[in-house]
Amino acid sequence: MKTKVVVALASVLALTTAVRAADTAPKADASKVTTDAEGKKHQWMVQGGEREKALELKPDLKHGKEVFEVCSACHMPEGWGRTDGTFPELAGQYRTVLIKQLTDIREGNRDNPTMYPFALTSEIGGEQSVSDVTAYIASLPMNPDNGKGPATADLAHGAKLYADNCVRCHGDKGEGNEEKYYPRIQGQHYEYLLRQFKWIQQGKRRNANPDMIAQIKGFSDKDMVDVLSYVAQLSPPKDKLGPHGWKNPDFD
Ligand code: HEC
Ligand code: HEC
Repeated sequence: MKTKVVVALASVLALTTAVRAADTAPKADASKVTTDAEGKKHQWMVQGGEREKALELKPDLKHGKEVFEVCSACHMPEGWGRTDGTFPELAGQYRTVLIKQLTDIREGNRDNPTMYPFALTSEIGGEQSVSDVTAYIASLPMNPDNGKGPATADLAHGAKLYADNCVRCHGDKGEGNEEKYYPRIQGQHYEYLLRQFKWIQQGKRRNANPDMIAQIKGFSDKDMVDVLSYVAQLSPPKDKLGPHGWKNPDFD
């Protein structure tokens, strides 16, 4: 299994042109509509068949662990990703959010050419696998040493921006909201936060929340550095964190 993943991974990384999912634009109507970087319109959360089914199914953690082996090649066995932000931390994220993001990637709503081939039904299975692997990931403890922003960032300015523009959805400490699909952003690697924030602002994430896009429209590069440096130093609750340097015993 491991060798297969590594070989497949090497061949994917060798591709110079990105494999891209079909651009399936959902039917748009009056409410919650966004326009992406290419001028196409999208309605938030409209394409939800797989997401809703995965949420209803009873997850099998043992199978989830088996599926996660493929994911661990990039997201690491701990689900902690990399502090340089190439691969996000998944551990501790709400299951609703993991399901939404994974199905968005499978449906081609996020450009993720590195991961896309490994996320397909032909590779990991259908809704049951989505249900299982996300339950397994949500059960992992979080990295207490996530990647932080630059020392030059103005954290006081970041805190002000956060209070004025983000708290209503992501919460006082970046804890998000499981029922509303608002991600936990505390404990995430700074470089990943920054990249995703820019992509959401630019409409590159085609199923991103339109209210967030409107809220962050006027953010300058400096504002982004300040607010995301502030977010990256918000600590998740102690009971969610693993020990420093924890290794996942499931993948010894
Ligand atoms: C070849 C490397 C690779 C593999 C294998 C991989 N991923 Fe990813 N994954 C990524 C990258 C890179 C990103 C961030 C993409 C971006 O910047 O938009 C990502 C993002 C995600 C996200 C979105 C996280 C967020 O906070 O928005 C989820 C969820 C996810 N991966 C789950 C999985 C699962 C589940 C598997 C296994 C079935 C998997 N990944 C396998 C590379 C990989
Ligand atoms: C109206 C609610 C709302 C507001 C306001 C909002 N967000 Fe978000 N944010 C969301 C939702 C929902 C997502 C998930 C996007 C999606 O649906 O794919 C998200 C995603 C993100 C992500 C990507 C996380 C990931 O794991 O991929 C970052 C980073 C982020 N928000 C930061 C911020 C910051 C910083 C602010 C304030 C400057 C902010 N958001 C304001 C709702 C909001």
